[in-house]
Amino acid sequence: MEITQFGPDDQVPLRATVDVANAAIGADAPWSHPATLTSYAGMLRHGWDGEPSVPFLATVDGTPVAWATYNTSEWDNTHLAWLGIEVHPAHRLRGHGSVLMDFLVDRARSEGRTSVGIDGWDSDAARAFAARHGLEKKSQSLNRRQLLADVDPDLVKTLWHGAAELGSAYELIRRSGLTLERDLPALTRMASAINDAPTDDLDIEDEVFTTERTRNFETCQLARGFRLHRVVARHRESGELAGHTVVLVEAERPAIGHQEDTSVVRSHRGHRLGQWLKADMLRWLGRIEPQLETIDTWNAESNDHMIEVNDRLGYRVLGRSLQFQRSLQG
Ligand SMILES: CC(C)(COP(=O)(O)OP(=O)(O)OC[C@H]1O[C@@H](n2cnc3c(N)ncnc32)[C@H](O)[C@@H]1OP(=O)(O)O)[C@@H](O)C(=O)NCCC(=O)NCCS
Repeated sequence: MEITQFGPDDQVPLRATVDVANAAIGADAPWSHPATLTSYAGMLRHGWDGEPSVPFLATVDGTPVAWATYNTSEWDNTHLAWLGIEVHPAHRLRGHGSVLMDFLVDRARSEGRTSVGIDGWDSDAARAFAARHGLEKKSQSLNRRQLLADVDPDLVKTLWHGAAELGSAYELIRRSGLTLERDLPALTRMASAINDAPTDDLDIEDEVFTTERTRNFETCQLARGFRLHRVVARHRESGELAGHTVVLVEAERPAIGHQEDTSVVRSHRGHRLGQWLKADMLRWLGRIEPQLETIDTWNAESNDHMIEVNDRLGYRVLGRSLQFQRSLQG
């Protein structure tokens, strides 16, 4: 097998990667939106917040059989390398995944990383493959989708008003695109509340949030071709930011939306702000993104509070993803 590192501008391996990814999606998660050249080039150029994964294409006699990613951060979790491996369904069970795993683990070791993680849709293949390579399941999360045509606007209105009554000490602020420079420090402090989301048994540290990183997230998502919409809850009396929710809409496929972080700062919890923020986002999106058809979200299965809000808003489960991890020490 030949393993070649490539970049977002390398059209031939990029196209081959999108083809492998789409074949894997068809086999493992047919509900997922297909990969596109634009979405993958954007992801590989910018990543989540400016630390994109390093991608590799694996070929055998010139035929693409798999692709893989190697992802590390310098902001936090510097012990960890998070890996991605997808083998084309027509080329599975021939050891290709294992060659890639060994290759990526070698790289992690050589860079001084002491732990590796990988995720995959819940399947016999993912479980057996992870076990074969000494990785244990540490967490599981569910992918849910909201079909906006099925969401009853009266229900959203009721949920909005029910929460607004409890949240009378707060006001909601809606903003599309970049956060104003002067608001970045407060937004960053508030958004770090996402560190309270459960991480189950994963050996990971809290994420480090800085204004630079918050800005990176916004500029990267916009550069990737997403429209970014954020609703923020502000405590009227103190002016403190209490929580927020973010939805990205794909410019290339504007029917598709992605729910990103929703978080409420610990001291402001218990006022149904999570529900209010999400209901408000839905009502707002109905006006500014009327073509939007679906919003996808991810939650750790143990995240009861967020899931309860999502259930009320009509989210339905698509599939379960498993997170595996192993230490490279010892
Ligand atoms: C999981 C995946 C990467 C395995 O790739 P692969 O090239 O088929 O794996 P390998 O041939 O190297 O198999 C490695 C081991 O896993 C086991 N395995 C792989 N697929 C399996 C399956 N469907 N059922 C049972 N065991 C399986 C093999 O038996 C093998 O064990 P062995 O070496 O003791 O015989 C591939 O199925 C895939 O791309 N799945 C979708 C993406 C994904 O889930 N990636 C992350 C997984 S944690």
